[in-house]
Amino acid sequence: MQTITVIGLGTMGHGIAQTFAVAGFDVRLFDENETVRDSVIARVQQNLEVMLQNGLLESIELDDVISRMIVCQGEQEACEQSDFIIEAIAEDLDIKRAFFSRCEQVVGESSILASNTSSFPNSRLAAGLNCPERCINTHWFNPAHVIPVVEIIPGEHTSEDVVAKVMELFHSIGKQPIRLHKEVPGFVLNRIQVAMFREMLDLVDQGVISASDLDQAVRGSLAIRWAAEGPMRVGDFGGWDVLGKVYEILVPSLRSDTQVHDILAGMISRGEYGIKSGQGFYEYPQQELLDIISNKDKRFMTWAKLLSDSTTNDE
Ligand SMILES: NC(=O)c1ccc[n+]([C@@H]2O[C@H](COP(=O)([O-])OP(=O)(O)OC[C@H]3O[C@@H](n4cnc5c(N)ncnc54)[C@H](O)[C@@H]3O)[C@@H](O)[C@H]2O)c1
Repeated sequence: MQTITVIGLGTMGHGIAQTFAVAGFDVRLFDENETVRDSVIARVQQNLEVMLQNGLLESIELDDVISRMIVCQGEQEACEQSDFIIEAIAEDLDIKRAFFSRCEQVVGESSILASNTSSFPNSRLAAGLNCPERCINTHWFNPAHVIPVVEIIPGEHTSEDVVAKVMELFHSIGKQPIRLHKEVPGFVLNRIQVAMFREMLDLVDQGVISASDLDQAVRGSLAIRWAAEGPMRVGDFGGWDVLGKVYEILVPSLRSDTQVHDILAGMISRGEYGIKSGQGFYEYPQQELLDIISNKDKRFMTWAKLLSDSTTNDE
């Protein structure tokens, strides 16, 4: 593969495009919003500078990377010469299906079509395509240029050849592609995240712990153990006999209902969306937003670098 196309250059798309360009691919970019098209290169340039400063990239030529990123003025122009097309457009089934249907009319026979959807099974996205075997979900995590893992979720029609090519492609750009073997709603990591949020929101709501103490508690315990070893090995180290006993005692009292928790519904109805509205569990003053985001990105990079160093040392 030589040429990659990224459609939709918002929160996720710009970081995906940047990752491929850093890895040496020619990347063609398109967004339906002209302002986004006009600002994407500056956004990537800023990301790259921060990554260089934080040691997450070593000695890349910024100009070379940028010169490999071609912002196109039309969707067809962006897709037609490409080997791998990934969309990170609106999370809307009809919009995504319409895009893939247009796309397969203009791309070559061997081109692969990928979706960064957070929720739609690939089998639904690819239904109705002439060649559903070349369509696949590749689920990146925000910030896409920093977080190493990408979930790879084939649909019922995706060919094994396409899965193998995508796994190889993602390894080649320095990502950690994790292949899932069944399509389940939310894939794997969002399921885990929601299961944990259900319990965490409940503990805060019951007044057992404050939101900030919960953050501190998780960062200083589960997060370190999971980042270093992963939860299943942590279980092996702890001993499943002991964990089994704790599980048995606790599981009847864990929150298990299927509604959105009242505390979350209340925050949404009050417009407390988090950083985007200035208020979540924490307050985010408008004048400090850029610093807050940049400090968060730096912390992500510090941990990503640490993990990548420790993985390299293990090998
Ligand atoms: N934000 C996340 O944390 C996250 C994580 C994983 C996956 N995703 C998924 O990635 C996709 C994009 O999410 P995002 O957060 O980057 O959204 P976003 O709103 O930040 O960006 C979407 C971009 O796509 C453009 N767009 C929309 N429809 C288009 C079309 N038909 N053609 C061209 N451009 C179009 C918009 O102008 C916008 O710039 C969604 O499917 C989302 O579920 C998001």
